[in-house]
Amino acid sequence: MRPCVHVFFFVWLMVCSHGSNGQEEEEEYEYYGEVPPDEDNDDRPLEEIKPSSPTMLCPKDCTCTQEGVVDCAGVDLREFPADLPEYTNHLSLQNNQIEEIPPEDLIRLYKVETLNLQNNRLTSRGLRDDLFEQLESLSYLYLANNKLTLAPRFLPSSLISADFAANYITKIYGMTFGHKPNLRSVYLHNNKLTDAGLPDDMFNSSRNVEVLIMSSNFLKYVPRNLPPALNKLHLKNNKLEKIPLGAFSTLSDLRELYLQNNLLTNEGMNNETFGKLNRLEYLDLSSNNLTHIPGGLPRNIVILHLEKNNIRSISKDVLTQIRNLEYLLLHNNKLRAKGIHADAFLGLKKLHTVHMYNNLLEKVPAGLPRRVKTLMLLHNQISSISKSDFATTYFLEDLNLSYNKIMSSTVHRDAFKKLRQLKTLEMSGNSLKSVPYGLPKNLEILKLKENDISSIPQDTLSGLSKLKELYLSNNKLKINSVYTGAWAELSSLQMLDLAGNQLSYVPPDLPESLEYLYLQNNRIVMVTDNAFESTPNIKRIFLRFNLLTPETVKERAFYGLEKLQVLDIESSLALPKVFNKKEAGREKEKEEEEEQEEEEED
Ligand SMILES: *[C@@H]1O[C@H](CO)[C@@H](O)[C@H](O)[C@H]1NC(C)=O
Ligand SMILES: *[C@@H]1O[C@H](CO)[C@@H](O)[C@H](O)[C@H]1NC(C)=O
Ligand SMILES: *[C@@H]1O[C@H](CO)[C@@H](O)[C@H](O)[C@H]1NC(C)=O
Ligand SMILES: *[C@@H]1O[C@H](CO)[C@@H](O)[C@H](O)[C@H]1NC(C)=O
Repeated sequence: MRPCVHVFFFVWLMVCSHGSNGQEEEEEYEYYGEVPPDEDNDDRPLEEIKPSSPTMLCPKDCTCTQEGVVDCAGVDLREFPADLPEYTNHLSLQNNQIEEIPPEDLIRLYKVETLNLQNNRLTSRGLRDDLFEQLESLSYLYLANNKLTLAPRFLPSSLISADFAANYITKIYGMTFGHKPNLRSVYLHNNKLTDAGLPDDMFNSSRNVEVLIMSSNFLKYVPRNLPPALNKLHLKNNKLEKIPLGAFSTLSDLRELYLQNNLLTNEGMNNETFGKLNRLEYLDLSSNNLTHIPGGLPRNIVILHLEKNNIRSISKDVLTQIRNLEYLLLHNNKLRAKGIHADAFLGLKKLHTVHMYNNLLEKVPAGLPRRVKTLMLLHNQISSISKSDFATTYFLEDLNLSYNKIMSSTVHRDAFKKLRQLKTLEMSGNSLKSVPYGLPKNLEILKLKENDISSIPQDTLSGLSKLKELYLSNNKLKINSVYTGAWAELSSLQMLDLAGNQLSYVPPDLPESLEYLYLQNNRIVMVTDNAFESTPNIKRIFLRFNLLTPETVKERAFYGLEKLQVLDIESSLALPKVFNKKEAGREKEKEEEEEQEEEEED
């Protein structure tokens, strides 16, 4: 009988609309012990026909298909529905208020494969120990976001995926995840698991688990006997102090290992801890308490997170065997240049991104990786740039040296000479007194904000024909401290930020390509008729906080600037509204609002 069950609803509808009286029909009704529908209902459209007895077909507020998909998600159920079709195989009950599951209501559903109970109010008391065990087809069990304190003691061996995240689970039993040959993924993050809450062999005879997520618990040790098929293991935000010997030694398929935000020290691991992880590509050890980079890291790591530790040095051969390394993240540590061995990066041909910001580097480390493209050295103590610092990093595209102690006198004139690929150079927040010489000709973005720059010496900007954005805000520039024709050379410049300087006029000879001009917070006393003569493409001009008065701003200056969208001038200045379209727009809205209010009062 059972195999026919799921075709029943379909057959019944057909029968109903055709008024046929076949043998099958009677059998089916008999099976369910139902009476045939009222004759009067016969000519209603199909979708309006509801079974006369609600106990069998589809519970109120739910939708059911003849294939056994029952959807009762987010319909404010307070109780587990008692009247689910027996042939249900995918049951969605997420986002309700269910607190318990009466065993007899669930066990009937012997075909259920997917059971989604996420985001309810289920407690461990509301689930009998063996509740799920008898569901012999159950493959996907979602119990995340409930109030469970204990994991279910028994789960069926058919299980493929279990999601118990975001509960209050303190205990897992041997048969919760043990003896599940099909089990592939287990999600246990955001619970209250301690080492004592795990069974001796959590995955006993469940060798095929590939994904194990146990982040945000209270584990002190990496669990023992991890399944050998794992490819993702997430243990971040725990209290891990130690990785027991051999904990990872069988995980030859592991690709992604999250250990960040724990209490790991170098004493809690050794040079063999990671040695067998031949396929590991992503290792995150950030936000721990390491003082040096662990030895024996496997060669296939592509992304290595070591930021936010106490790393003070990089010895000669902790990194060099990681031949596939592309991203090395070492920011927020205690690195000094002299603690980094000159051969520390030797042979790392794929390493293109290195973050060492927020360390104690007193100079650019020697022996930078040859192929580095992105180098973040901001927020260190670097006080000079020598000729050799970047002499071999030909592939550098993005160099950030902001917030160091670099002075104009200590930047070698040829320091950047070899950087033909450099597109972005940031040296904001240093002690530069003038724009450096020898800037690479392919630069597209140059940031020199917050220095003491009071001069742009002859030819320092010449040849920068690809420069699009130039930031010089918060310096000490005056009109005559910029060499004549400096701006005009920048034939691709779209953005010029000169806010917070000591300019008394709008700079002359701005390039035709300019679209954004920031001049707020200067000492500009006058905008002459021809101030923007050379910039017909300008879109936004910021002139707020200067010394302008209505008399000193010539309206004619803005004539013909057809692309101008924003003209930001001190609000006290009574400029014709058309020039400040945003302002004008706002005024109009206000007027309309007022009109409307008046109408409403009527
Ligand atoms: C693993 O399961 C087998 C078979 O049920 C059992 O005999 C053994 O004691 C279990 N091992 C552990 C460590 O629990
Ligand atoms: C690990 O370190 C020990 C010394 O602490 C050394 O004798 C051993 O050769 C190292 N093993 C590997 C694989 O580097
Ligand atoms: C880090 O380790 C040092 C000893 O190596 C210890 O004094 C310190 O308290 C640890 N910090 C944290 C946050 O555990
Ligand atoms: C360079 O450093 C500055 C200052 O902290 C920062 O604002 C900027 O985003 C950095 N640039 C890049 C590309 O990360």
